[in-house]
Order: sequence, then structure tokens, then C-alpha cells
Amino acid sequence: MKKKHLITSALTYVNGFPHLGHLAGAMLNADIYARFLRAKGEDVLFVGGTDVHGTKMEVGAEQEGLSIKDYIQKYHDLHTKLYEGFNLSFDAYGNTDSEANKELTYRIFEGLDQNGYISSKTTKRPFCADDNQFLADSQVGGTCPYCGYEKAKGDQCENCTKLLDPEELKNPYSTISGSHNIIFKETQNLFINLDKMQAQIATWVESKKGIWTDIAYTTAKKWLKEGLQPRGITRDLKNGFAVPKPGYEDKVFYCWFDAPIGYIGITKEWADKDPQNRRWEDWWLNPDEVWHTEFIGKDNIPFHSIIFPGMLFGSKENWTQVSFLKATSWLTFADGKFSKSEHRGVFLDEALEEFPADYWRYWIPANSPESDDSSFSFDSFQAVINKDLNDVLGNFVNRVLKMTQNNFGLEVPELGSITENEKELYTTLDKLVAEYTEKMNDIELRKAVALLREIWTVGNNYIAKTEPWKVAKTNKAYAGTILNTALNLIYLFATLTTPIMPTVAQKMADIFGKQIQPWPTGPIQQVLTSIQNGAKFVPTEPLFRKITDEERDALKVKHKEVE
Ligand code: 2FM
Ligand code: ZN
Repeated sequence: MKKKHLITSALTYVNGFPHLGHLAGAMLNADIYARFLRAKGEDVLFVGGTDVHGTKMEVGAEQEGLSIKDYIQKYHDLHTKLYEGFNLSFDAYGNTDSEANKELTYRIFEGLDQNGYISSKTTKRPFCADDNQFLADSQVGGTCPYCGYEKAKGDQCENCTKLLDPEELKNPYSTISGSHNIIFKETQNLFINLDKMQAQIATWVESKKGIWTDIAYTTAKKWLKEGLQPRGITRDLKNGFAVPKPGYEDKVFYCWFDAPIGYIGITKEWADKDPQNRRWEDWWLNPDEVWHTEFIGKDNIPFHSIIFPGMLFGSKENWTQVSFLKATSWLTFADGKFSKSEHRGVFLDEALEEFPADYWRYWIPANSPESDDSSFSFDSFQAVINKDLNDVLGNFVNRVLKMTQNNFGLEVPELGSITENEKELYTTLDKLVAEYTEKMNDIELRKAVALLREIWTVGNNYIAKTEPWKVAKTNKAYAGTILNTALNLIYLFATLTTPIMPTVAQKMADIFGKQIQPWPTGPIQQVLTSIQNGAKFVPTEPLFRKITDEERDALKVKHKEVE
């Protein structure tokens, strides 16, 4: 049965200022995939938003002298505006603090509780006497007991990726004040008994072998091999959903409990307002008809491969679980970290001021950290924009429009009899377009972009080989055939380019006053007759501009790629 496509991209912490790494990690890949599937005519729901609970937001709000609510709203609006600037085509976009999400969080919690998967335990939690408050896991810093990294956090060591409990850290300190005055004070919290679900989750994860990205599958297997443990789902904090269980009302759910439920909550909020009355249940309680792809960074794997699936299994409703877990490594900045406080890296507000969104939308998947980390540098950015976009695609479009205009005016010349040149072009493109489509289906975007560039190059090679500017002097009819074919190539390239550079693609279709056509499925020879003989066209301004060496060097200094 043909399934419809649910696509989620990890909900970004609302307090972080988004940078290129956020786009590369989940959101842009998810958007490219959503646009590709829509072009193929699939039924798609693309869900995203911000993650707003937890201590980080309490701290941020206090620093800015805002209420938590106002702080969340301010940064949620900022994220929304920036993602709109990058043309991320979310169907449903929201945050984790909605009434809809609260309702679903309670529903899943109550299901787990009724089915015997919730237990209570008194534990000692880190309390900082100088800060006079309990600290969240991530607010405790210290030395990782596994690898010795000195800046590990109480929830996870980002050096060796082990999930930690704060008690495990050596030499713990408060990341709020730096105080080492940490005591572990008794408090009673609720836990989800993942240990009771070990067998069910193990069988399910096994069925994902060869489907999920390798890193997602192997990380989940590693967790299962170590044996699943009960995990705390409530915290002694303010910013979150109050726990609906007698004796725990003064606590809130841990942000990682309601964050993934947020995907469902955001869908419900969208459905509740949908003029077409579409139902959230058709996406989330419909595993037989939905293929669910989750886009996440590699640090999110345990939550998406084990814990969230366990929450859904344990509540014993027929939830749509993740079908394909697409986990990505890190995009670093000049082999280091992005740092807003040090103004090091490319943050999304400045990125949009400096270049059109499509420049970034092309560079990122072309260098996607798919199997390994990759690093952004302005040398690479300049080379890719100048070569791939200007010299290959931009130049092709420009030359074809000029040559046609010079020889035939602003009308598409007639496609006459074709020669071996055109037959060779069709064969090459049939093969490359099929390969490109396959890589897009498999979400191997780095390879997909390399194929797209190869497809554009085929256009240039065709013109170089057939030399229409010369042919026009001796055989005008064949020159017309070549340029008709080349104009049709521009229109084909618009479709193939649209998932990656939607604005540029639309500009290419605008030349012919047309909408972008659906993804090609039939023989390319046929697709290359979409723009008909005699159709009018309007030349476009150059699609791209080159980045000069001076500009590149100034950008390196501005973004602290060099000191
Ligand atoms: O790592 C992060 O940025 C988390 N905010 C991702 C949450 S994904 C989902 F569970 F909401
Ligand atoms: Zn470590």
C-alpha cells in the first residue's frame, strides 16, 4: 500500500540562537526531503518547532529580566522568522508548551501509569546551596567518569556521547554560578520502566536494520546491549507541565518527556485549526498508512530510537512509530564550535543578510555531515558558489537565453529532427535523473547534490558539443532544435533543483511563465517537450553572483574564521 509521509525534524531549543549547524543537522534535510516528496505528488506532513521546557529557558528568562512565557515567545518568534527566511516549508510549526501537547503528554503518561510502566523512586538530586535551587542535569558540569572530559554535563558527555547522571560526574559544579557547593538532596520522582520493555524494543529495533542510518541503528543496539534502565521523567523545576499525579503536583515533566510528544502536539494544534478538518490521528495513530521519517542530530539518537518509542509502546495505543530514523553528524565551523557569545560562526540572521537563502541551501547539503562531521569554511563556500552555481548552472541558463534571443528572439524555436547528439543527451539524462531520484528517495543528500551538479553539467556539455552559435549560421533549423532542447533543459532543471533551491528554481520556471512541473517519471525525451514550439519567454537576470576574494576574506574576519 502506498503510504503517506510524516516528516519531523528535531525541535530546536528555543534559547539557542540558530546557526548553520542547526540547518545542517536536521531542518534543511527534512525540508529538502519534504519538497522532493511533494514534487513527486506524495501526501506529506512536515512538522517542526521549538523545544521550550526545562531549566535553560528559566535561566535565559532570568538573565533577560523577562517572564518565562515572554522569553519563550520572543525566541520562538525569532526562530520562526529565521526559518521562514530559509524557506523551510513546515506544514505544522509550533512549540512544546501548547494545550494540545499538555493533553497528549498527560494521555501518554496516564497510559504508561495504568499499564504499570511508571515507578517512583527517592533519589538524591543535585542542589546548589549558593544558587539555592535544585539543578537540572545539564546545569551540573564536571569530569566524565568514562573519558575524563572535564566539561561534561550531568545529562550527557558531549565528548564520548555517554548519557550520564549528575552523580556520576567527578568534581561537580553549578554551571549557573560556577559554585562547587553542590549537595545531593533527597527528592521523590517518577521513572519510566524501560527495563520492562527491553524485549519489545529490541525486536522492534532489530527490524530497522538496513533501514535506519547506520549510526542510529548501532547506537540503539549499543544501548540495548548495555540493558535498558528506568529513567527519570519528572524534575524539581518550574518550567514544564505540572505532573498530574497526587504527591507530585509541585514537579514538572522532564523536558525530554514532552519534547518528542511535541511532534504530535504540534500536529494536533495544526489539525484543530485546519480548514480542511484533517485529523492528527490520521498521522499519529495510523501506522499502517504512514511512513514516518525523523530527522535528528546524532546526539538525539537514544531519545528517538529507544526512549520515545518506549513511551509510545508502553502507553499501548496504536501509535505511528518512526519508520526511518535519519541521524546526521555535526557541521562544525572552521573545525571548531559555533559560539554566539564569542560571535564565532555563521548565525542565521547574518547568513540571510549576506547571501540569498538558496546559496546556503545549496552549500549545506553539498557538504552534508551525513556519515562524518564536516566543517564550514568561507574558502569552501566561495568555491562552491562560484563554480557550481555561477559557472555551471548560472552560466548555462544565461548562455542559452542569450543565444536564443540573438538568433530567434524571445520565442522558443521549433524542435525539428533530432540527431545522435540529442539521443545521447536523453540516454545520459535518463540514467542520471534516475540515480538522482534514487539518492533523494534514500535521503543521501550529499550524493544527490553531486548528481544534480552532474545533470547541470550535462547541459553545458551539450551546448559545448553542438555549438548552436556556429550551427545557426549554416543550419538554422538544427540550431532551433538545439536551443529548443536547451530551453527545455532549463525547465527540467527547475524541477530537479526545486527541493534544494526553491527560489532559484521558481525563477527558472518564471522564464516561461510556468509553475514548476511535477517530478519527472517518464522518459526524458518526453519531458523535454514541456515547453512548446513558439512559446514566449522572458530572460532573467543572472541567477547568481560570484563571491570575490576580498569579500571572502572580509567574511572570514567578520565571522572569526580567522583572527
Ligand atoms: O537536542 C535538541 O536540540 C532537542 N531540543 C531536540 C528535541 S527533538 C524532539 F524530541 F523534540
Ligand atoms: Zn565522556
